[in-house]
Amino acid sequence: MLDKNITIAIDGPAGAGKSTIAKKIAEDLSVEYVDTGAMYRALTLKVLRLGVNPLSANDVINVLKNTSIDFKGNHIYLDDIQVDEKIRDTIINKNVSFVAQIKEVREGMVKIQQELARTKSIVMDGRDIGTVVLPNADFKFFLTASVEERANRRYKELLEKGEKGISYEQVKFDIENRDRIDSTREIAPLVESKDAHRIDTTNKTIDQSVEEVISIVRGR
Ligand code: DC
Repeated sequence: MLDKNITIAIDGPAGAGKSTIAKKIAEDLSVEYVDTGAMYRALTLKVLRLGVNPLSANDVINVLKNTSIDFKGNHIYLDDIQVDEKIRDTIINKNVSFVAQIKEVREGMVKIQQELARTKSIVMDGRDIGTVVLPNADFKFFLTASVEERANRRYKELLEKGEKGISYEQVKFDIENRDRIDSTREIAPLVESKDAHRIDTTNKTIDQSVEEVISIVRGR
């Protein structure tokens, strides 16, 4: 337990282990966890369900205007329906970066994220948390790993979920593509904040990475 409200920002590329590690830290410190990627994913799910082109900014913005995205407990709700599983499909992985590069989409999401962090202790993970959403966070971490390791982790996850017809090469290609779009977009690109603790998870177990973060937070 902590004796005051704290905010912990965790950023990094796809497959670096952010959400697994952030969830464990939140549990260990008994604070709330917010997965901001899930919010962009939920909007992408709605966009695709409606047959809207994710590259058409005006159409995506119109969808956003009529959409509610919410967290209850550790679950993500799209228009009041829980979509934890649906937002992890490969089709969402392939399209979410297009939706997430739209300025108005980011403004809307950042507002919700800042409100969530306003009154309580929180661990939040994403791409722009330490740089844009919570620039004054008490702790900032930048998690990374080699692209091969990140692709390998995502590939295994998809196999475990029973996805058919995927190859490691395709998963690696998709990750590299998302890295490129997320890091080069005009608004709030994925960059390593100068004041973030960098943790390379390539050769670490989840528990080792969690321990590293916790010891920094607890000042050991
Ligand atoms: O962390 P993730 O893989 O669930 O994120 C999905 C996508 O959402 C990712 O490709 C980039 C985008 N994203 C973002 O732009 N900003 C965030 N704070 C979180 C995610």
